[in-house]
Amino acid sequence: MKTIKIGIETGQAQQMVDQLNTLLANVQLFYMNTRGLHWNITGEKFFELHLKFEELYNDLNLKADEIAERILTLEGTPAHNFTDYKAKAEIQELKDVNDATKGVQSIIDSLGVLIRLERQLLSVAQNANDEGTSALDE
Ligand SMILES: [Fe+2]
Repeated sequence: MKTIKIGIETGQAQQMVDQLNTLLANVQLFYMNTRGLHWNITGEKFFELHLKFEELYNDLNLKADEIAERILTLEGTPAHNFTDYKAKAEIQELKDVNDATKGVQSIIDSLGVLIRLERQLLSVAQNANDEGTSALDE
């Protein structure tokens, strides 16, 4: 059996790299959307949401880095440009959203996409006995 340096079968490692890159692309689009909402949201909930969006994009920023570094451990290349992100991501770019209800709904939808992708990734990681990738989802 051909394996990468940390002992995971090459094909399984590749499959996880692909899924991690899809997750990364979605996280990056979500990050940019959340920054846009932080900047542009208006209305009576401005102060509350402005802060919440900042907490979220800071968390997404850290997550993107963890995902990218796991890809490197699995001997892949983390996607690192917007062309690739837009091609791979299911989450679409937001533009000119300043309405609180629409903004929050888009956050909920995007979190749903991430949770679904993470669940798929978890099942592949568990099959490969890849504790490191499984633990990323926590
Ligand atoms: Fe700010």
